[in-house]
Formats: sequence, structure tokens, C-alpha cells
Amino acid sequence: MPYSSDKTAQSSTAGTPPQTASQPNTDRTANDKVPSIPSGRPVLHAERLSKKVTNGERTLTILHELSLSVAAGESVAILGKSGAGKSTLLGLLAGLDTPSDGELRLFGQPLSRLDEDGRAALRAGRVGFVFQNFQLLPTLSALENVLLPLELVPRVGENQMAKSWLAKVGLEERINHLPKQLSGGEQQRVAIARAFVTDPELVFADEPTGNLDADTGAQIIDLLFTLNREAGTTLILVTHDHALARRCDRCLQLDQGRLMPFASSDFNTVGGGQ
Ligand SMILES: Nc1ncnc2c1ncn2[C@@H]1O[C@H](COP(=O)(O)OP(=O)(O)O)[C@@H](O)[C@H]1O
Ligand SMILES: [Mg+2]
Repeated sequence: MPYSSDKTAQSSTAGTPPQTASQPNTDRTANDKVPSIPSGRPVLHAERLSKKVTNGERTLTILHELSLSVAAGESVAILGKSGAGKSTLLGLLAGLDTPSDGELRLFGQPLSRLDEDGRAALRAGRVGFVFQNFQLLPTLSALENVLLPLELVPRVGENQMAKSWLAKVGLEERINHLPKQLSGGEQQRVAIARAFVTDPELVFADEPTGNLDADTGAQIIDLLFTLNREAGTTLILVTHDHALARRCDRCLQLDQGRLMPFASSDFNTVGGGQ
């Protein structure tokens, strides 16, 4: 294993590559300048990541020496109680936030050697992020919000691509609505369309079904895993939704700042999905 230096049981299990080979990502567009990572290779490798925040005289350790490797095409669920640090972890893994300690490689690049612009350039078009609070721009329509990531990686026919993504999440009738004219669940679906519109290799989603009713949630879950299977999109999902988590290749639990395997016996039996 290329990244087996972790000493702790939690990190060696969390860092295990998937057993099954996944489909190569065949529909990258010609304007991608960096070659895609072959299937099965790590798209992300975190080594002893820690995150501490200081509040007055107190230092709070949110994440403690946490290690994780995620292979191309893999789907990983991260579960954990509210306040466990899941959103903090996702932000770190995506390079949106910086660790207090430890190293993170995204697509093989050590993020500590990149400044904020360098990290944004690395992510452009290759990483999608669905924020827990959506983070849609309030003055832009649903369509304009979905078009935003394409400003960094322009594509031919991008208006049509954005519309087609809004249709996939069931919002074809809402493309000109502003976020405030949309329900929480509809905003969440715009955020999902925005995350996927560039056909990214890696998508982070923070509780992507948290604001959806059961039926819409099930449709979105199907959509995520169809993309995972057909386009090879790597998924790293924070969720409380066991129906979503149990469809992932790997389920991890964040507790006391550390990642550990989530026991399948802990899944809810009611409404547990497939
Ligand atoms: N910048 C910060 N300053 C102080 N505390 C923070 C900061 N960011 C997160 N926290 C705290 O860290 C903990 C983890 O937060 P979060 O990652 O949002 O958890 P989760 O997503 O699992 O609910 C919470 O107790 C939160 O209050
Ligand atoms: Mg959170």
C-alpha cells in the first residue's frame, strides 16, 4: 500500500483502498489540462491532519491526527454526531480550509505548497462541493449559480449543461428563481447541480439530503450513485442518512476528532434503503 505509514488502527483502516476496481472516468472534456487520476489510485491522501481553534485562552482540538486515503471512483460516507467536526473535516479535505498540522495531497499535489489561489486552481473543474448551508449567491438565479463554476473552466454549450443539471435535480421549472424564492430542499438541489456541472472527478457533499423529503432524497441518492458508477466520480459524503451511507463503498465515523470504521450493525434497520 502506498500510504500505509499510519500507526493507529483507525487510520490504517480508514486509509485502506477499496477492494473493487471502479470504472475509469471516460467523459473528461478536452479542456482539462491535467490528466485524470487512473481509477483505484488515491485522489486524496490525508496524513495526520489536525485542526485546532483558539477561543480566548482555550484551544479546542476539532480533529486529531486523522489519516485517510480515498481512491478514484470510491464512495465514502462520513458519519458522526452533530459537532463532531464533519464539516470542518470536509472543508480541510477539499482544501477550503487549512489544517493546524498534517499534510493533505489532492490529486497527488501537497496542498501545503499551494497558496489559496493555487488550491483554487487545482480544484477548478475537478472538485465539486455541496455545502451544508448551500452557499448560493443570493443575487443570482438558480441557473446563474449553477453556471458559476464554469467561469473557471469554460465549456462549449455550458448554458445547456447547467440547464440539464437543473433538470436532473428536478428544477427545470425553477431556473430563473433567486435562492430566496426557493425552498431549503430546492436550494440544496441547486447546490448539487452546481457541484456536478463541471463533471468533476471528486465531489464533497455535506449532508446532501439533509433538507430533502424522503422521495426527493432517494432520487438524489440514485443520481449520486449513478454518477459514481457511470462517470467514476469519487464521492465523499457527510451524512446522517443511513440510506445514503449504506450505499457507499466505505463508511467512517468521526468521533472525538478521530476517524474509525462505522460498524454496519449500527445502521438503522427502518428506512435503511438498499
Ligand atoms: N472557527 C471555529 N472556531 C471555533 N470553534 C469552531 C470553529 N469551527 C468549528 N468549530 C467547532 O468545532 C466543532 C465541530 O464543528 P463542525 O465541523 O461544524 O461539526 P459537524 O459538522 O460535525 O456538526 C463544533 O463544536 C464547532 O462549534
Ligand atoms: Mg456539519
